[in-house]
Amino acid sequence: MIKIAPSLLAANISKLGEEIKKIEDYSDMLHIDVMDGHFVPNISFGVPVVAGLRKITSMQFDVHLMIENPLKYIESFAKAGADIITVHIEAPDNAMKCIQLIKSLGKKAGIALNPDTPPEKIKYLTDDIDMVLQMTVFPGFGGQSMEKQALANIPKIREMIGGKKDLQADGGIYAENCGKLVGLGVNVIVSGTGIFGQKDSAAAAKEIRKAAISGEAR
Ligand code: DX5
Ligand code: ZN
Repeated sequence: MIKIAPSLLAANISKLGEEIKKIEDYSDMLHIDVMDGHFVPNISFGVPVVAGLRKITSMQFDVHLMIENPLKYIESFAKAGADIITVHIEAPDNAMKCIQLIKSLGKKAGIALNPDTPPEKIKYLTDDIDMVLQMTVFPGFGGQSMEKQALANIPKIREMIGGKKDLQADGGIYAENCGKLVGLGVNVIVSGTGIFGQKDSAAAAKEIRKAAISGEAR
């Protein structure tokens, strides 16, 4: 099933609540990027933002941890209202331990990989995770162009995880290129600039869903 996940990083920060209300009926989850200035050279949202937004929407919160020590913070994000928590395979903390902790807290667990990380690195985790996040840009910033090298990973990951689990792509995604990603095996489309960065974010989310579904039919 195709799922659309607008990325909050591209929303107008001075009115996050209003921004979410505009897209919630046209999206399947809200992608929330957490950056610590160590794992990536940027700082974004933290636990209080997740907790604050939890009060204004029932959307599924898809929390993408781009942080060096996820083990230390997973419980706080779970308590703040995350539904899916994704950690990076490149982070120094033990990925299996992170996934077990996420699941013990009753949340869905995702593993993310950068465009230049071989998919084989996550193979041992595939039975334990609910979702894989293939980065289609190097993490840290919104508004970058897609890294073509990431595309070759997608069919390999889909084969590894089977047809039922979610495979998410994140970075540089718009209506024009999401059909291709779906054709390769992606079913969850993350888009920041392509949705919140557009004049009419609801229309952009609908447009991306339409383009993704047509990619599925191909
Ligand atoms: C990048 C983040 C992405 C980002 C995507 O490090 O993980 O989720 O918000 O932004 P766009 O869609 O603008 O490339
Ligand atoms: Zn992200």
